[in-house]
Amino acid sequence: MSQPEQVKADHRRQAHVLKEQHAQIIALADEASSAARRNNTEDLHRLLDALHRQLNDHFTDEEHLLQQLDFEGLAEHCESHIELAEQCAELLFLVATRHASPEEVVKVIEGPVKDHFTDIDSPVDDFIRSEIDRN
Ligand SMILES: [Fe+2]
Ligand SMILES: [Fe+2]
Repeated sequence: MSQPEQVKADHRRQAHVLKEQHAQIIALADEASSAARRNNTEDLHRLLDALHRQLNDHFTDEEHLLQQLDFEGLAEHCESHIELAEQCAELLFLVATRHASPEEVVKVIEGPVKDHFTDIDSPVDDFIRSEIDRN
């Protein structure tokens, strides 16, 4: 494989990993919402902890690929990642200290968390797909 082909194959592999991470994050978010609705604090804490970790891993991987592909809106997208990571860290703290109501938890998960993957990531996903499909 030539060097440009190798780079392309690597980008394709990274894009595939990001897609799998999206699916895992949405599944975890659904589980956390359901634990909050059942008022199961122990499960909720464990799931939110896992969600927070997965989000951070995904953000690092996504930003890495976007940087390699010279994505124009990278700085702005990084800002949205920082903001969401902070919101999740705060939610995790509130749940750990038993200061969050189930309604508040569901509101953050069904709002800002899911919005990132359904709305804010959408132009990013389109960009990655178009770069991968080029040539
Ligand atoms: Fe993403
Ligand atoms: Fe993102």
